[in-house]
Amino acid sequence: MSRFKAVIFDLDGVITDTAHYHFLAWKRLAAAQGVDFDLAFNEQLKGVDRMGSLELILGATAQHYSPQQKLALADAKNRHYQQLIATMSACDLLPGAVAALDAVRAAGLKIGLASVSKNAFAVLEMLGIRDRFDDVVDAATLANSKPHPEIFLTAAHHLGVAPQDCLGVEDAVAGVASIKAAGMVALGIGDPHILRAADRVIPGLDHFRLDDYR
Ligand code: BG6
Ligand code: MG
Repeated sequence: MSRFKAVIFDLDGVITDTAHYHFLAWKRLAAAQGVDFDLAFNEQLKGVDRMGSLELILGATAQHYSPQQKLALADAKNRHYQQLIATMSACDLLPGAVAALDAVRAAGLKIGLASVSKNAFAVLEMLGIRDRFDDVVDAATLANSKPHPEIFLTAAHHLGVAPQDCLGVEDAVAGVASIKAAGMVALGIGDPHILRAADRVIPGLDHFRLDDYR
């Protein structure tokens, strides 16, 4: 029997590699604004919502933009991102993603999705996995982005499971912080030197084993 009652997954960078498309779209926007932007800086943006990411990219220059200009920039980034993901399909599921969802289901646990992306529902539909989740948090209903715990606490609440009985799965520093602030166990996907606050880190869901947590 698992020590958990639910597993709550992030989407971008965990189930599918949309993290790369977010990077490409932000990179083009940053270049147009004359702002330096690289993969190392992008790590800070993972798990951060659209407007929060824009503020981080603009940095000290953000004060020179009106709220309307910022919204226009965020909209332009989102249109570019949506072009980049337009042809996504089940082929874009990361290795081990479906097997991990199957394993959690077979163990009788609830499955939640906690992505701050307002494109999450569309991406799940394109991947063909929407019905595998008992709950998908609607990012539009949230007041706070990761690293605030709101999204993981909301998912646990919707699933009817106490936070301490949840395993959260994340590729982002902000996401791992959100899971830990929610009082959950954090499984990091990626580099243990980056995801230092995670309880355990694996390179990808193809290394996911519920048995690791007995
Ligand atoms: C997160 C990504 O899942 O969603 C971030 O890690 C992204 O990179 C954020 O900025 C918001 O996504 P969207 O689709 O609402 O712009
Ligand atoms: Mg992510």
